[in-house]
Amino acid sequence: MELTTQKHRSFEPSDDARAGANIAGMEAYRALVAQAEHDYEGFWARLARETIEWHEPFSKVLDESNAPFYTWFEDGELNASYNCLDRHVAAGHGERVAIIFEADDGAVTRVTYAQMLARVSRLANALKRRGIARGDRVVIYMPMSVEGIVAMHACARIGATHSVVFGGFSAKSLHERIVDVGAVAIITADEQMRGGKTLPLKPIVDDALAMGGCEAVESVIVYRRTGGEIAWNAGRDCWMHDVVANESDVCEPEWVGTEHPLFILYTSGSTGKPKGVQHSTGGYLLWAAQTMKWTFDWKREDVFWCTADIGWITGHTYIAYGPLALGATQVVFEGVPTYPNAGRFWKMIDDHQVSLFYTAPTAIRSLIKAAEADERVHPARYDLSSLRIIGTVGEPINPEAWLWYRQHVGALRCPVVDTWWQTETGGHMITPLPGATPTVPGSCTLPLPGIMAAVVDETGQDVPDGQGGILVVKRPWPSMIRTIWGDAERFTKSYYPQELGGALYLAGDGAVRDTNTAYFTITGRIDDVLNVSGHRLGTMEIESALVSHELVAEAAVVGRPDETTGEAVVAFVVLKRGCPRGEEAAQLAKALRDWVGKEIGPIAKPKDIRFGDNLPKTRSGKIMRRLLRSLAKGEAIAQDTSTLENPDILNQLGQAR
Ligand code: PRX
Repeated sequence: MELTTQKHRSFEPSDDARAGANIAGMEAYRALVAQAEHDYEGFWARLARETIEWHEPFSKVLDESNAPFYTWFEDGELNASYNCLDRHVAAGHGERVAIIFEADDGAVTRVTYAQMLARVSRLANALKRRGIARGDRVVIYMPMSVEGIVAMHACARIGATHSVVFGGFSAKSLHERIVDVGAVAIITADEQMRGGKTLPLKPIVDDALAMGGCEAVESVIVYRRTGGEIAWNAGRDCWMHDVVANESDVCEPEWVGTEHPLFILYTSGSTGKPKGVQHSTGGYLLWAAQTMKWTFDWKREDVFWCTADIGWITGHTYIAYGPLALGATQVVFEGVPTYPNAGRFWKMIDDHQVSLFYTAPTAIRSLIKAAEADERVHPARYDLSSLRIIGTVGEPINPEAWLWYRQHVGALRCPVVDTWWQTETGGHMITPLPGATPTVPGSCTLPLPGIMAAVVDETGQDVPDGQGGILVVKRPWPSMIRTIWGDAERFTKSYYPQELGGALYLAGDGAVRDTNTAYFTITGRIDDVLNVSGHRLGTMEIESALVSHELVAEAAVVGRPDETTGEAVVAFVVLKRGCPRGEEAAQLAKALRDWVGKEIGPIAKPKDIRFGDNLPKTRSGKIMRRLLRSLAKGEAIAQDTSTLENPDILNQLGQAR
């Protein structure tokens, strides 16, 4: 595939953006890239010493002897919560605001570093009192809240490994994660508030625990967010405000080895159940902090705002850890971008004088639509002059949305950083640098210094620029995934497959590099993973949910491009009792959509469900997904269908509904 990013003009960083930037100009960038190439371990060791306060210094840097289970700075000791809180307080910055929290209803609370430290320490002491210790796993199922971040740091402080589950996941998904991770405690809230609505959390935890196999869970600690009525299991449940009430606000941090698992975060893969991505403490924290400095050019005066949820990796790295590791002031938002109206983000930037803003392309696309429909929520109606840098993450951004974002939010002045990375990479990998890289809409441009990204073919050989291929990373980096929790074999197979030679990290995305600039453009997933509104969904997971419905005999799920959500889920379903029509089909489609919502979570609901008597299969019984993808898009079938067992089925599935 010939594809050059130069269809769009490029935008040089302004003199203002370059002046005083942490990486100022391409020369400075190239010098860092050269340092990493010349002395890889020395490069990383220097960053690790600069960004982290070590309790015990490390002497080893990278250990590749047990590849692909790489270790970094292994004999060092540190504590992530200490690095994010105590050291700023010790340096005299206890009164600096760490979090400007804005609730769904607009109420604003400010929490200083000293207050964060006290709150984290009290909860950490309470966790210890309940028998939770180093190495234990704690599931956090919380709304966007200061308490959610405090919970993460309380775990980190005592050396417990947290596993945050996004508050939109169903009881079944939560249950699967509680069991897989072997949680001993759950930290949750009674309910959450989003868009003026109250949604349950604790009742879902109750349902999950009632599904069995969670006997290890001895404590459920509940933050009272709404005061809504919830069931109570006296031996197990306790209010967060009660358990911290008499605890000391001093808690000596548990010093852990650099490789100690800070957290396990589940994400979807192409096959089977979600993968528990295990991250280290030291390598992860180093990159969370360093990328704040490089990608967002963070400076002390900045007010940072990442709109992600702490249930995703973006909320881990760019809310819970990166900003706090630097002593930054950040906005944390409980609600949704469209409540009370679609001007909420712009109003909040204005109100809190946000200078660094980081959001998802899906949000931008939906706010463009809203602004075009109602000029009262257009960014032009707000004062966004505090903005300095604007970023995107999670999915490809189409050039139209990128240009709109640059013009209407960034006032043609703020560099746009389109950051490519993944749950597994821990932090940014390929991204423009605001004070250096000329940007091109739709391209994430160049790898950060130290990140050896490349595009290869199916055998692991480099492909020439301009030719599409498979995105890989050639050398291990400190913040990379360490393993899949409980499944080391799956880790090796998924990320270091033998087909590519076993030494390249396989990202699961396709990419192409520009022939002139060597800029990367991500062309989308190359496996059966969908990206809907920036959320990763495995087609197999949705198929399993569908076939677990009593009426469903068979199901196949594919993605279809969608103007707002990037991709949309389309499901082809065969019922046990034959193909429904008309009103019955519409009702069944709704019932199945709701079913998937209950089984996985609302984010996984298929947008379109089509019924048929069968699915297109080869004579050996293999479902031909590429045909389904064409049908989902409404394309005429141009492919060869001669190997199909049942070619007539295409008509039925293409027309149905
Ligand atoms: O397909 C890529 C897409 O999101 C995937 C990673 O999803 P997740 O682990 O949930 O992490 C999302 C937040 C980092 C990638 O494999 N993706 C992420 N960022 C971009 C992107 N695709 C294109 N451009 C991006 N900037």
